[in-house]
Amino acid sequence: MEGRKIIIFDTTLRDGEQSPGASLTVSDKLIVARQLARLGMDVIEAGFPIASEGDFEAVSLVAKNVKGPIICGLARANDKDIDRCWEAIRHSERPRIHTFIATSKIHREEKLKKSKEEVIDMVVRAVKRAKQYCEDVEFSPEDAARTNLDYMCDVVREAIKAGATTINIPDTVGYAEPKEFGNRIKYLFEKVPESKDIVVSVHCHNDLGNAVANSLAAVEAGATQVEGCINGIGERAGNASIEEIVMNLVTRKDYFNVDVGINTKEIYKTSRLVSKLTGIEVQRNKAIVGLNAFAHEAGIHQHGVLSSKRTYEIMEPGDIGWTGENIVIGKHSGKHAVTNLLKKAGYELSKEETHKITEKVKDLADKQKNVERDDIIAIANDVIHQLSEKEQKIKLEEFAVTTGSAMTPTASVKLSVDGEVKIGAGVGVGPVDAVSQAIWNIVGPSLRLTQYNLKAITGGTNALAEVSIKLMDKDNNIFSAEAVNEDVIKASAIAIIIGINKAFNFEKRIHPQR
Ligand code: KIV
Ligand code: ZN
Repeated sequence: MEGRKIIIFDTTLRDGEQSPGASLTVSDKLIVARQLARLGMDVIEAGFPIASEGDFEAVSLVAKNVKGPIICGLARANDKDIDRCWEAIRHSERPRIHTFIATSKIHREEKLKKSKEEVIDMVVRAVKRAKQYCEDVEFSPEDAARTNLDYMCDVVREAIKAGATTINIPDTVGYAEPKEFGNRIKYLFEKVPESKDIVVSVHCHNDLGNAVANSLAAVEAGATQVEGCINGIGERAGNASIEEIVMNLVTRKDYFNVDVGINTKEIYKTSRLVSKLTGIEVQRNKAIVGLNAFAHEAGIHQHGVLSSKRTYEIMEPGDIGWTGENIVIGKHSGKHAVTNLLKKAGYELSKEETHKITEKVKDLADKQKNVERDDIIAIANDVIHQLSEKEQKIKLEEFAVTTGSAMTPTASVKLSVDGEVKIGAGVGVGPVDAVSQAIWNIVGPSLRLTQYNLKAITGGTNALAEVSIKLMDKDNNIFSAEAVNEDVIKASAIAIIIGINKAFNFEKRIHPQR
């Protein structure tokens, strides 16, 4: 039976990118947006154009290149934000301006220092200005879940009158409880009946772990759009996880009786891509996309699943595109097999990138017999995320390490810093530590290493080493970097240098005050 259509709105590239620790380059954003389009996303919020030049560029790029979904940009309720937002999204075939202002007493009084009436005037002005550019306008009363119900309804009524076509009710600080949030949406439909003629959306944060439950309660109460992020990333504890919402609506269609236009078979791929590019790992036992989501450990469960999958599986792993495959590629596999594998994993590569990746895969296959899927993905990420020549302010020229059972590991490193050769020495508890100390002795103390992970991807002692690191600057901005090499020490040095270059190229962003 056909149910009401629920619009799925993805804000991975905007709210998701505001996650502490996540920062996506402009080209990463385009890769993610293309995958979101393949996933069948109805709306992609591509960024907050006024926040930085980089955000503006990313939103314009997505608007120009990603066809199918509505491409939305965020703007505060002021002329400058809205004009800049339109500049970025106007290239889309289906542009949307999403404007917002806080309405709760605490935000109005403590942050905005505005009366109720002044806020309503700003809402009306902002929606009307957005409407001059674009038919599709979304308005959000920020911190709606803590806003007085009747005042929230007054604001929504005026926003609709001014031309908003979608009204989004955010639980900005993740404070609501499911029944209470559902009742808020019901109340809105009762007090503002014109809400039935537009799209009513919800946007829930996960501070109390209720983001998905609150979103589903709102759908039950009549909401027709749900916002969230892939893997549930986002500000603080994150946003509602899109894959969890979608799989609830699909798996329990008998309960919700609604339809979504999502191609669920693309979920797993999208989740891996977002995790890889943001550097935010998916917790093993996370619903839907965690590594354990379809694993059966207990003997009794294994027995049940072998007799009949339905005993312990409420979804087929294939429904979300989880294949568990372990493709083996050797040195004779060539470009086609590599491209095919990467295409399946959601990568769209230029000819040059494909060539570079294939060459590296062949080099590796010469050294270790089989190259597996994860090796190829690691190599692809390494090639794709190379910084441009201009961004490489620091380059590794040479390094040497001396170590042994009876001596303290020492290292010397030669870097070129803005074209000038600099040499540094360091000692450490091991060779990696010694090289890292030598680099810091040249670069200085403005950054510190907060995380270091080493993974041997496949094989034996000649395995590819994948090093991922995080650096933090004095303002607590975090920069993640990865490098892959057969030499652990070299991979470590390269990863640290990529991180330092990212930090040195970092452009301060503004985010709405909260
Ligand atoms: O959480 C929030 O209130 C937001 C708005 C901008 C919709 O992200
Ligand atoms: Zn939010």
